[in-house]
Amino acid sequence: MNYLIINGSPRKKNTWAIAEQVKSNLKGDFEEIHLSEEDIPLCRGCQNCIMNGEKYCPHYSQIKDIIEKIRKCDGIIIASPVYAMNVTALLKNLIDHTAYLYHRPEFFTKKALVVVSTAGAGHKKVANYIDETLRHWGINKVYKIAVQCGGKDSLETKDIDKTSLKFRKDVESKKMHSPKLSDIIFFDVWKAMALTDDPIKADRQFWFETGLVNNDFSPEVKLGFLKRMFSKIMFNIMKRVI
Ligand SMILES: Cc1cc2nc3c(=O)[nH]c(=O)nc-3n(C[C@H](O)[C@H](O)[C@H](O)COP(=O)(O)O)c2cc1C
Repeated sequence: MNYLIINGSPRKKNTWAIAEQVKSNLKGDFEEIHLSEEDIPLCRGCQNCIMNGEKYCPHYSQIKDIIEKIRKCDGIIIASPVYAMNVTALLKNLIDHTAYLYHRPEFFTKKALVVVSTAGAGHKKVANYIDETLRHWGINKVYKIAVQCGGKDSLETKDIDKTSLKFRKDVESKKMHSPKLSDIIFFDVWKAMALTDDPIKADRQFWFETGLVNNDFSPEVKLGFLKRMFSKIMFNIMKRVI
């Protein structure tokens, strides 16, 4: 299996030590992106990625390489320490550069593991924030490891191993999980947005070119009867509301 690790910490200490422990439980090839070495300029807020297409981002050449690596991996690990009760600016900058994925999600077959370390607080909140972001990217299943490095909880080592092994088993199985209702709702929101009379052109192009516009969810992820009906109903509501 191919794993991509995106390290949002400016240093290789607490968060990286957990990432290394995660790695020791996985089997395969690893690619590492240390955002501190990428020198991605701050998002300029031009909204080109959202409105005109990601290729029009002034930093596209750097973002494209990362997106390509995500496309190629089987599992992605995103790591960040808690900084002022949030992710690091390094990771947030990457998330801002990929904001277009909220409109045009594409990683439906990927599984992710979130690694967050903190001195004392905010680890669960930050892990949940990264989880939420990844869900908007389309990611099929997100596992979370959130560790208080200030504490002395020996159980944490066991928990890191347990969650990493679950993640590994899931990646190796290639099994697709049924999406949450909230994932389906967001899918229908963006699909309906692409079909309005005055859509964002890049969104419309994406939804038609990928054929997603004709589906209740990504065709790579099977929906049961009830969730299919739910998606159809949600889409009809969204079409009226938006
Ligand atoms: C700028 C900055 C902000 C931080 N903010 C918090 C915080 O809000 N809450 C907290 O418990 N720890 C906070 N910490 C501590 C780090 O989250 C913690 O030490 C983490 O494990 C560091 O990971 P690293 O070794 O990968 O850099 C902060 C550290 C720095 C440098």
